[in-house]
Amino acid sequence: MSAAAPAAKPTSAAKSDAAAAFARGLEGVIGGQTSVCSIEQDKLIYRGYEIHDLAAHATFEQVAFLLLEGHKPSADELARFKKEIVAERAIPASVAKFLTDAAPQLKAGTAVPMDVLRTAVGLLGHQDPDCQDNSAAANLRKSKRLLARIPTIIGHMQNAIDGRAFVQPDAALDHAANLLYMMTGRRPTTEEARVIDVSLILYAEHEFNASTFTCRVIAGTLSDLHGAVCGGIAALKGPLHGGANEMAMEMLKEIFASVGEAGIGTPKVDAWMEQAFASKRKLMGFGHRVYKNGDHRAGILHTLGRNLASRLGGTPGGLAATRWFDLGEQVQKIMLTKKNIHPNVDFPCGMTYFVMGIPVPQYTPIFVAARITGWCAHIMEQHADNRLIRPLSIYTGPAERRWNG
Ligand code: ACO
Repeated sequence: MSAAAPAAKPTSAAKSDAAAAFARGLEGVIGGQTSVCSIEQDKLIYRGYEIHDLAAHATFEQVAFLLLEGHKPSADELARFKKEIVAERAIPASVAKFLTDAAPQLKAGTAVPMDVLRTAVGLLGHQDPDCQDNSAAANLRKSKRLLARIPTIIGHMQNAIDGRAFVQPDAALDHAANLLYMMTGRRPTTEEARVIDVSLILYAEHEFNASTFTCRVIAGTLSDLHGAVCGGIAALKGPLHGGANEMAMEMLKEIFASVGEAGIGTPKVDAWMEQAFASKRKLMGFGHRVYKNGDHRAGILHTLGRNLASRLGGTPGGLAATRWFDLGEQVQKIMLTKKNIHPNVDFPCGMTYFVMGIPVPQYTPIFVAARITGWCAHIMEQHADNRLIRPLSIYTGPAERRWNG
C-alpha cells in the first residue's frame, strides 16, 4: 500500500475488527447476497444456468428475460417480452437532438461515447413517468425501456458521428441484429447477428463486479434506477473494467503498427511484449480479479470471432480479419507463458468487434447494451431487500491537531 502508515490505530472494537479484515480493493470480501448470478472458478451461472449452456442454446432476449424476470421465459412470455422491447425502441426527440449536438465533442474527443451514453440515460430518466418510483413494477418497466432504448442511443450516436441520417429501428430484427443495423445502416448476416447476440449474453451479467456494485451502492441509498445505471456506466467506462475491450484492440493495433504484418508470428511480437513487461505496462484484456485460471467467457467468444473472421475479408487497416486473430493468439500465448495470465472476455471481444467493422469507441457502449440487464436485476434485488451499503475505512491522515494551535 502506497499511502502513509496510519497516524492513530482504530480505537473502537468494530474498527479493530474491520482493520483486521481489511482487503485492498475489497479483494475476497463478500459484499452481499444475490440470486442473480454465481461465479465459481470453474463455472459462471446466471440464475442457475451455466454460461456455455446459455451461449449455445439461448438468445440474448431469453437471457434478458431470465435476468430481469427471474425465470426462463415460456414461448408466450418471450413473444410478449420481445414485442414490448420492440415497441419501446424509439427515443424522445430531445434525446435524439442531444446526440446530434454531442457529435462535435465526440469528434473532437472531449467526450467519448460512454460519456454521451451516460448523459443520454440521465435524460431518459427525466422523461420517464416512473423515474421517481422505486417499486418493483416501476423498476421492471424502466429496465425494459432502458434495454430497448440503449441500442437506439448507440445507433443514433454513431449515425451522428458519421454524419448519416438516423437509421430507425427495424421491428423485424432481433435485439442484436437491430443494434448493428442502427449503427451501420447495413443488415448483418445471420452469423454476424448471432456473434453479437452471444457477446451480449456473455456480457449480460457478472455478479458483484465494479459497475454492478456501483449500481447496488447507489440503489442502496434508495436512489432511483436511472441514477444507479448512470453510475454503472461511469464505472464500466474505466479501462480496468469494461473499457478494456476498446483498449485491448488499441493495444493490438499498436503491436501491429510496431511489427507490421510480416512480424506477426515472429519474435518481433515477443520483443514488443518484453518491452511492455519491462515498463510494467498492464496489457489490456488480460487478467481478472476473480478468475485466475481463465475467464469462462473468453474462449466462447474467441471461437466465434475466429470462425467469423475466416469468412470475412480485409479490415479497415488493410489486414485480413484472420491475421488479427493470429496476432491475438500469439500475444495470448506469450502472456500465458511469461506471466501465467489468461485473457478475459474483453480480449476476444476487441478482435471480434473490430473484424466486424464496429467503431472501437462503441465497444464499451455495446457492453452497456448487454449489462443493463444484469445491472437492473441487481438494482431491483437491492431495492427489494435493502440495507444501506456503507463500509468503514482505515484512517491514514495526520493525528488529531488544533486549528488554532
Ligand atoms: N497485464 C500485466 N500484468 C498484469 C495484468 C495485465 N493485464 N493483470 C494483472 N497483472 C499482474 C499485475 O501487474 C500484478 O503483478 P505484481 O503482483 O507483480 O505486481 C498481478 O498480476 C496482480 O494484478 P492486480 O492488478 O493486483 O490484480 P487485480 O485483481 O487487482 O486486477 C484487473 C484485476 C484489474 C482486471 C487486472 O488484471 C488488469 O488491470 N487487467 C487489465 C485490464 C482489463 O483487462 N480489465 C478487464 C477485466 S474483465 C471485465 O471487466 C469485463
